[in-house]
Amino acid sequence: MTPRSLTHPEDAALVLVAGGLVALPTETVYGLAAAADDPEAVGRVFAVKGRPRSHPLIVHLARAEDVHLWASEVPEPLERLLVSAWPGPLTVVLPKQPWVPSLITGEQNTVALRVPAHDLTRRVIAALGEQDGRLAAVVAPSANPFGAVSPTTAEHVLSGLGPRLTERDAILDGGPCAVGVESTIVDWSAAGLRVLRPGGFDVSGFDSAPATTVNSATGSRSAAQPRVPGTLPSHYAPRARVHLVPADTHFHEGGSTGAAAVRITETAGARIGLIAPAHVATPAGWHRLAAPDDDRVYARMLYSALREADQLGLSDVVAVPPGSGPLVAAIEDRLRRASATE
Ligand code: TXA
Ligand code: MG
Repeated sequence: MTPRSLTHPEDAALVLVAGGLVALPTETVYGLAAAADDPEAVGRVFAVKGRPRSHPLIVHLARAEDVHLWASEVPEPLERLLVSAWPGPLTVVLPKQPWVPSLITGEQNTVALRVPAHDLTRRVIAALGEQDGRLAAVVAPSANPFGAVSPTTAEHVLSGLGPRLTERDAILDGGPCAVGVESTIVDWSAAGLRVLRPGGFDVSGFDSAPATTVNSATGSRSAAQPRVPGTLPSHYAPRARVHLVPADTHFHEGGSTGAAAVRITETAGARIGLIAPAHVATPAGWHRLAAPDDDRVYARMLYSALREADQLGLSDVVAVPPGSGPLVAAIEDRLRRASATE
C-alpha cells in the first residue's frame, strides 16, 4: 500500500483526475496536492496530514491570469507585484470569489494563491485543466505530517507520509527543492503590503509601500488581521530540541558567547548538532549538520539538516542563523517555530 513513484507530469495529472493525491515538487518545498475541484480529495489532504480543517490551503495555479478566476478583486499594486514575482515563492491572500469552497479557505472570505516556479508541477496543473470540465488548480499544503519539518526531497515525503498514502496516490520526483523554505505570504491591507509569513520571496524591493510584518511569532493578532494558522508558535519541529542563538555567536573552548549554547553543553548526556554559517567553528564533540556559505544555501539545507539530527538521534540542535541576506527572516522564523515547545 505505498504511493506510486512518478516522473512524468501527465501521469501525475491522471492520478489527480482519478481522485488521488500527488506529492509535487515546488521551488520551496514539496506539496501534497489534490485537484482543487474535488472536495473528497481535498478532504483527504487534511486527513492524511492530520491537519485541522480550520487551516486554509494554498491554491496553486499554472498561470498568473487565473488569479481573477479565484479572487474577486486584486489591488493594483499587488497585481503588479505578483506579475513580477510569479512563477515564484510568493503567495497572495485575496478576497475570494463567492464560488470558492470554504473547505479550501478554512471558512474565511479570502483565498491564498500562488504560481510555483517548478516546471513539472505547472505542467501537472495545466494537464489537469485540459481534462473535460476540470479546473487548472491544485490545493497543496507542505507534504509533511501536521507540525513536522517540511519535505525538500521526494524521499522526505515518503518517509513522513508514505505510510498514510495508498497506491491510489503518487509522488512526483522533481529532485531537491531549490529554495528550501516555504513561500512568502502577503496580503494587502489599508496600510499597504503586509507579510503574513516570511519566506522564499524578498518583498523588500517592492516600491509601493513599506511592508509590515504580522507578529505571528507571539501569536498576537488584531481583529483586522487574518488567521495564518501555519504560523503557530510550534511548527516545523524535529524531535530534537532546537536552540536558536544570536547570529554573532561563536564557540570557543569551555563555552561560547551565546548563553543558551553554554547551558546545553552542561547538560549531561546531550548529543548536540550544529547548524551554522561556514565561518563558525564546530565545538569539540558536536556534530556539524550544515555549514552553509550564505542565506540561500542555508535555506536550502535547513530542513534536511533538522531531519538528519533526528536520524542521528541527537538530543539538541544549536542553530546560528545567517548574519545577512534576504532569506534571514524566513530562516529565523522557521528556527523559532522549530524551537518552540508549545
Ligand atoms: O511554499 C509554500 O507555500 C508551500 C508549497 C507546497 O507551495 N506550501 C505551504 O502550504 O507552505 P502550507 O499549507 O504548509 O502553509 C500554507 C499557509 C498556512 O499558514 C495557511 O494557514 C496559510 O498559508 N493560508 C492559506 N490560506 C490562507 C488565507 N486565506 N488567509 C491567511 N492564510 C492562509
Ligand atoms: Mg506546512
